[in-house]
Amino acid sequence: MKQLFLLLISFSIIACSSQKKETLTFAEKMLDLNVAKTKETLKGLSSNDSFPRNIPKSKKDWEFVKVRDWCSGFWPGVLWYAYEYSGDESLKTDAENFTLPIKTIAYSSARNHDIGFMVYCSYGNGYRLTGNEEYKNILLSAADTLATLYNPNVGSILSWPIKKDEYSHNTIIDNMMNLELLFWAAKNGGDKRLYDIAKSHADVTMKNIVRPDSAVYHLGEFNEETGAFIKGHTHQGYADESMWARGQAWGIYGFAIAYRETGKLEYLDTAIKLSDHFLNRLPKDGIPYWDFDDPKIPNAPKDASAAAIAACGMLEISNLVKDVKLKEKYINAAENFVKILSSKEYFSGDTNQALLLHSTGHHPKNSEIDVPIIYADYYYMEALMRLKKMETITSNIAQKSKN
Ligand code: GLY
Repeated sequence: MKQLFLLLISFSIIACSSQKKETLTFAEKMLDLNVAKTKETLKGLSSNDSFPRNIPKSKKDWEFVKVRDWCSGFWPGVLWYAYEYSGDESLKTDAENFTLPIKTIAYSSARNHDIGFMVYCSYGNGYRLTGNEEYKNILLSAADTLATLYNPNVGSILSWPIKKDEYSHNTIIDNMMNLELLFWAAKNGGDKRLYDIAKSHADVTMKNIVRPDSAVYHLGEFNEETGAFIKGHTHQGYADESMWARGQAWGIYGFAIAYRETGKLEYLDTAIKLSDHFLNRLPKDGIPYWDFDDPKIPNAPKDASAAAIAACGMLEISNLVKDVKLKEKYINAAENFVKILSSKEYFSGDTNQALLLHSTGHHPKNSEIDVPIIYADYYYMEALMRLKKMETITSNIAQKSKN
C-alpha cells in the first residue's frame, strides 16, 4: 500500500511539476522525489531522539541509532536539505526537532572526531539556513570540544581515542571532513587557534596518510610524544595498501575544503590527485566497489556512499579551480555520479525508505554490506542541491544573454 502511495506521489509530482514549470532540471526532478519520500518517511517516525542509520537486507524501513552514534547528524542534515530545496515549513520543524537532541554532543567530552559529522551536518546546515544564534553557540562549543583531541606533538587530532591501545595516536582520513567545523568556528567568533589546528592536521594528513600511489591510508599511526609517523593502516578497507573507496572520497572532499579555507595550493593539488586516481580506477558502471582492490571484484559489493561523497568533493573542486577545462571535468564527473546514483540500479524508488541502495559500511567487520546507509542519502542530497544551484546560475546567465 505504502509502495503504491509512493509511486502515485512520484507520478503526481512529475505531473504537477511539469505543469508548474515547463522544464524541470534533472536535479529538481530528483529533489522533488526525494523530498516527497522524506516526508513520507517522517510520517512513520515517532521519536526525535532516534536517527535512521541503515536498512538491513530483509527490511524496508530504517533501523535507528541513538544520538551518540557517529551517524546521528546525517538524518537532520537530509531534512535541512529537503527544507532548503522545498521551503516547506513542516520540514523545517522536523529538521529543528531532529537537530535538537544533538546539542548534548557539542558539550560532552569528545569521544572521537565524529563530533564534526554529528554537529556540522545538523547544526551547521541549520545555522546556514536559519541564522539561529543558539545554533551558532552550539557549533562554537562543538569546535572547542573537537579541538581537545588535538595533540601538538603530532600536529593532528586523535581521531579515535578508544582505539589508542591498538593504534597509539591515530589520525584517520575521515577526520579531514571535520576540519570544516574548526575553520568555520575560527571565522565566526571562535578561537583563532582552531584555524591553526585544522591546518596543521591537514598538513600532517597530507604528508603521512596520502600515499605516493595517490591513494590514502585510512589511518596513520604516530608516536604521541615525538610525533613520528609509525605506520599507515587501512582499517576499514581490504588491506593496508589497498584503496578503500570511502576513505579516498573523504580525502577528495576534505582536501578541497582545506584549500577553500586556507588557499594552500598543495591541498587543491592533493584533492585533484586523489580525484583523478578515483576516476581512473572506476569500474564500468561508474560506481566504485567498496575497495578498489578487493580480489573478489566483480563479485564484491559496491559503495554508493563513496560515489556521493566524491561527487560533492568534485563539485567543490570545480568551484575552486580557475581553468575552465578542469572545472568542466569535475562538474561532468560529479554529474555523472549523481545520474548513475539516480538510475534504477542505485536509486531506491519504492524498494525501501532510503534514497539510495548499495552502500557498504564496514566490510572487514561484516557490517552494513550492500545496504542503504544514511550518509549516502545525505551526500546525495547535498550533491543534488549543489547541482541545482549550478543549474540555476547557468539558466540565469542564459536568460540574461537572451534579454
Ligand atoms: N568512519 C566513517 C566511515 O565509515 O566512513
